[in-house]
Formats: sequence, C-alpha cells, structure tokens
Amino acid sequence: MLPRGTGQLAKPVGTWRAALDLTDPDTYIRCFEVCQNTMISRRDFLQRVSGALAAAGAINPLLNWAVDSASVEVPGKEGMIVRSARFLDLEMPPEFFDSWITPVPHFFVRNHMHEPSTLDANEWRLSIDGEVENPLTLNLADLVKIEQHAVTNTLECAGNGRAFQQPRVPGVQWQRGAVGTARFSGPRLGDLLQRAGVKSSGKHVMFRGLDEVPGKVPPFIRSIPLEKAMDGDTLIATKMNGAPLMKHHGFPARALVPGWIGAASCKWLTEIKVLDKEFDGNFMKPGYRMPNQPIPPGGDVNPDDTHPITALGVKSIIATPNEGSMLKSRSVHIHGKAWAGEAEVVRVEISTDSGATWHPAQLGREQTHYAWRLWSFVWKPPNAGEYTIMSRATDSQGRTQPQAAAWNPSGYLYNAIDQVKIRVQA
Ligand code: MTE
Repeated sequence: MLPRGTGQLAKPVGTWRAALDLTDPDTYIRCFEVCQNTMISRRDFLQRVSGALAAAGAINPLLNWAVDSASVEVPGKEGMIVRSARFLDLEMPPEFFDSWITPVPHFFVRNHMHEPSTLDANEWRLSIDGEVENPLTLNLADLVKIEQHAVTNTLECAGNGRAFQQPRVPGVQWQRGAVGTARFSGPRLGDLLQRAGVKSSGKHVMFRGLDEVPGKVPPFIRSIPLEKAMDGDTLIATKMNGAPLMKHHGFPARALVPGWIGAASCKWLTEIKVLDKEFDGNFMKPGYRMPNQPIPPGGDVNPDDTHPITALGVKSIIATPNEGSMLKSRSVHIHGKAWAGEAEVVRVEISTDSGATWHPAQLGREQTHYAWRLWSFVWKPPNAGEYTIMSRATDSQGRTQPQAAAWNPSGYLYNAIDQVKIRVQA
C-alpha cells in the first residue's frame, strides 16, 4: 500500500517492495520518510542519547534500524538492547529474564513514532465519544476516582522473535526480549463505556494515542471488538507495577488489552471512540494481519486473504543458559518463561538432545490468567561436548509450539520451539 496522495512515490516505493515489506507499519513509516527526504527532528529522549547515534542517523535514517546499542543510553532503561533509537525500541536482554514480574527499567519499549514531547498530567484529557449516548471528557483525577482493578499481564510485541524467521523478514529484528510481565492497574474500560452508554450500533472501540506523527504518515490508531473492550480485565491503565506509568510506557494512561498482542494496548491515550465497525487505518490494515492460509516461506500474501491479529499464541523461551555458553558445571540449571495469551500454559518440555527425547520442566508457583509461567529443569550432561537444548510449551487450548513458526512477510507471532546451543566442558 502506498501513502495516500503521493503518486510520485509509486516508483521508489515499488522498487523497494522486493526488499522491504510495506505491510509492516514500521517499514511503511521509514520508507515514507526517506521518500519525502524528511529528516525528523530528534526530540526529547534523543537529546539525551549520544552524539554518535545522532551522527549515524543523519547519514541515513534507515540505519537506525540497527543502531550501535553500546553508544546509546536511555535514562531509566540502562542495559536494554536498543533496536531503534529514532523511534525508541528497546529489547530486554536475556540476563534480565530472571523474575516473574519484570521491573519497569527492564520492560521492553515499542514505539512506532515519536513519543509525545510534552505531557502535562494537569492538562491531559481523555475523551470518550462516537457511538455513545453521553460523550465524556475525563481528566486524570476522574480516572483515579473510578473503581481500580489490577491485571498481571504478559505483554508481547507481535514482532517478537522476528529475527529468527527464515527467510528473514524486514522490520525491527527482535529476538526474545520484546516481552515482559507487569501488574497494570486503573479503571476498567467497560466501566467508562458504561458511563458513556454504548449505543446498539457500537461494535468496535478505537484508541488514539498522542504520538507525534512524523510527516504525513498515518497516526497510531487501532480498534478492538466491543466484547473484548467490555471484558472485566481490559483496563485504562494508569499504573505499572504500582507506580504511575513511565512516559515510555504510555503516561498518563494506556489501554491494557490482556492476552492480546502489544499493539492492541495503545499508549498515551487521548481518545476512545466507539465505532460501528472495525477501524481500517494503516495499523489495522495492512498492518498487524496474518494470512488466512499457510504461506510457503518467502511466499506472497493476498492482502484480502488476511485477518487482524488478536490474541497471542503459545510460546516458551529459554532464559539461561545463553546461546554459545561454555558450561563447566556437572549440573546445568535450565530455566525460562512460557505464555499463551488468553489461554493457560499447562506443560513445558525440555529436550537436551536436539529434540530426540523430551522431559517435563517444573512450572513455577506464580500463576495468574494472562501472565507467563516460570519454568526450570535441572540437567546432568552425560558427557562433555556440544548440545542443543530446546523448550516446548503446550496450553489449555491444546496448542503446542511448532517446530517451525508459521512464516509471514512481517514475521508476526513467531513461536517456534526455542533452542540454544551450548558446550559442556569435561
Ligand atoms: N501505542 C501508541 N500510541 N504508539 C505505539 O507506537 N506501540 C504498540 C503498543 N501501543 C504503540 C502503542 C506496540 S506495537 C506495542 S508492542 C506496545 O505498545 C508496547 O508497549 P510498551 O512500549 O509499553 O512495552
């Protein structure tokens, strides 16, 4: 799809199509800006990152897909892998995968655009309009007065694991860490909608964020079905792990759509609009859709034969040992996380012989709906040598992680059996 009203862009964008997937919103935005030859001013957080990064970005904005993370420090997010600094994308490194609740400094960040440069909690307003009887405008104090509810949710970006897709696909090359679990709290979205009185024509609930939109690219607007919006666990979250939301996570309020891909949970909310049908802007179509039919790896997708992505699949990841580790111990502690969106993880199995045999891992005690389970397995390697360790989760819907993830051109919902290669020394 080409940006609207930019006919002369057809050629360059078309030329790139072979190499870049424009159905990925991130790719769309970056290509659009390159076409427009528009350099975006670096706001706010970029003023605080190193000059080395700014210099790299000035040469070619596309370079910012893969930045030298060693040269960038984001205050409050030290130690994170910087996947993009132009629009902040931070991945949690494997060494931070050690707790059930992810501390906010270690929680991944995914931004499609610039974060709002000014956000004054006193000035901030949230409107609720569209197919409602009584449109409302609320401020932060109003939200706090409404009954509060907390949900511990594993939030995962639909593109997490994209780096492992074969053949490779364009977009942010997330490995394992575009996922985290936090306790989100705030009023229920359903309570706000009830106050506004949804008309019988209301079918979808649209969220608009306060992102600063670069150039003429489409703003980050998405919608969820009314049924999910009315679910008692769908929130307008103002807190994360008990503290007001950090700016990178959507201060002062964000949607929290538990069990669904992270993109459903709009940050920096400013408008909630009830629609009579699904929103069909760029971040719903062509963005964030999966093919209805299996696609051969590297194959083409007919955009009309796709559906919007909603809930997460079943997935486990190995947190330790790390890929390439050299282990001396006779007893190897393997541990990781497993999650399943709206379903429950019922089993995690481990293989230490490249998938020939599987053994049950011990599931951690912490357990709530929508949150990942910790798992662990103690293994005594029989001999020195090289081993491939694998983890495979199964959920309450009977889904098991596949050997190979369903390939799609945007690399969404990667959930193949996880594996790491290690070496055991005598
Ligand atoms: N909301 C707005 N307004 N703008 C965005 O770019 N990114 C979405 C979602 N909400 C986004 C947004 C995506 S793709 C994800 S995965 C989650 O926010 C990430 O949430 P986090 O940055 O708090 O981890």
